[in-house]
Amino acid sequence: MKNAGAFSRRLILLEDYMLRYRYFQPETLKDAFNLMEKLNDNARYIAGGTDILVGIKKRAVKTDALISLRHIDELRGIQLDNGISIGSMTVFREIEAQQPIAQNFPALWDAVTLLANPQVRNVATIGGNICNAAPSADSAPPLIVLGASVTIEGPGGSRSIPIEEFFIGPGKTKLNSYEVLTKIHIPPMDEDMGCAFLKMGRLAQDIAIVNASALVKMEGDVCRKCRLAVGAVAPVPLRLRKVEQLIEGQRVTDDLLNEISQMTEREISPITDVRATEEYRRTVSGVLIKRAIKEAIKEAKGEKRKRRPYFGSFHSLNENSIYGGNIKIDNGDPFRRTVHFKLNGDEVYFEVQSHKMLLHVLRDNFHLTGTKEGCGEGECGACTVLVNGVSVNSCLYPAFELDGKSVTTIEGLVQEGTKLHPIQEAFVEKGGVQCGFCTPGMIMSTKALLDQNPEPKPSDIRTAISGNLCRCTGYVQIIESIMHASKKIRTGVKDE
Ligand code: FES
Ligand code: FES
Repeated sequence: MKNAGAFSRRLILLEDYMLRYRYFQPETLKDAFNLMEKLNDNARYIAGGTDILVGIKKRAVKTDALISLRHIDELRGIQLDNGISIGSMTVFREIEAQQPIAQNFPALWDAVTLLANPQVRNVATIGGNICNAAPSADSAPPLIVLGASVTIEGPGGSRSIPIEEFFIGPGKTKLNSYEVLTKIHIPPMDEDMGCAFLKMGRLAQDIAIVNASALVKMEGDVCRKCRLAVGAVAPVPLRLRKVEQLIEGQRVTDDLLNEISQMTEREISPITDVRATEEYRRTVSGVLIKRAIKEAIKEAKGEKRKRRPYFGSFHSLNENSIYGGNIKIDNGDPFRRTVHFKLNGDEVYFEVQSHKMLLHVLRDNFHLTGTKEGCGEGECGACTVLVNGVSVNSCLYPAFELDGKSVTTIEGLVQEGTKLHPIQEAFVEKGGVQCGFCTPGMIMSTKALLDQNPEPKPSDIRTAISGNLCRCTGYVQIIESIMHASKKIRTGVKDE
């Protein structure tokens, strides 16, 4: 038995060794290109990392080195001028916070707010979602119908192409391995245009079984222009050009919409997988396209739905460095580095390996075991902590990215002595805890919500904890606990 224990420890060390990769953090695009050329195709660019890190963990992605694009300022930001320009490294949460996008480009806003969950949207980027080229990518159908183009830069120069030409197969795009998608540009919409996005999935936050987007330009009841796109029903997000021709120049009637629905079913080539059968996808695509057109017509006629983010203001993970200015990146040893960060208020210096995630640093090195590991893939939220006040899944947060940041874990909420934080008290008082495995993650998501939106509605709460799964399924009590916590914090109410 003793030998078996030693053998399994050696196996774990070997497995850990095999997962190693170098991690680089260039601060300019030029440096990123130079690095990629030097590494000679053996490296991969990483944006928010919510897909590639899962791929590496599952051994589906093999790479010697990752080149992080997080510190390249020119890739971030949104410009609302003659349409919108969105830097590829802009996180979804920042797009969600933009009221002009919610009002003027609702198809994109709806897609963004239904994508994954808050912890993922805090780090995942629009460029990463596009370059990942999943046939089900939620941002793709609205960008296609909105007529977006993407700018691609590489060592050899820059080019711009329509987004619908960017995808060439599952996981495959027009990018060569040295190039980076730098910007997405969406042209302005005319007054008489409307657009919509709809998604079918097990949960709103799940990967789409089918998603669909429509854009129409209306003149009374006649559709003058139409663009339609569907996702998860072909090797690439698909523009339905033939179906569009059926509607353009026609009065939109129920009979026409039924015809469109049937033609959509014929135009696509879905597959059967764990999420749905081919037949189901075909039927749902027809229905979603019909509904998306109806929604888009309503938008075009000015019957706009009210849209607002569930959180108050937005601040990015890159703001508020503990250095009080830009973080100076040390690209010395790409395998191992000393990072300097704040952990529950204390400044710490700690040597980390490039392939380690924040979750393991917290649990294995700082023995802060309140943060739990469930799925390890960004699905369950058990590992949720705050980085610079923003909720993230620590199982997918690279330790090298900790430099200059401030991390708060469940242990950091405890007040003076051993007094519980009002959120913790509220969970105890309202029975929001059963086995307790999900509780630290739930509480950290609640903290992130109440810091930005002190008086949330139940719907805001449901969105805020949509990235946290409770296997004991005590959601009703959890939502009551959060409402109670909000009241306690605002009014100092004691137990009821
Ligand atoms: Fe990190 Fe599940 S989301 S462990
Ligand atoms: Fe048991 Fe949520 S209380 S998993």
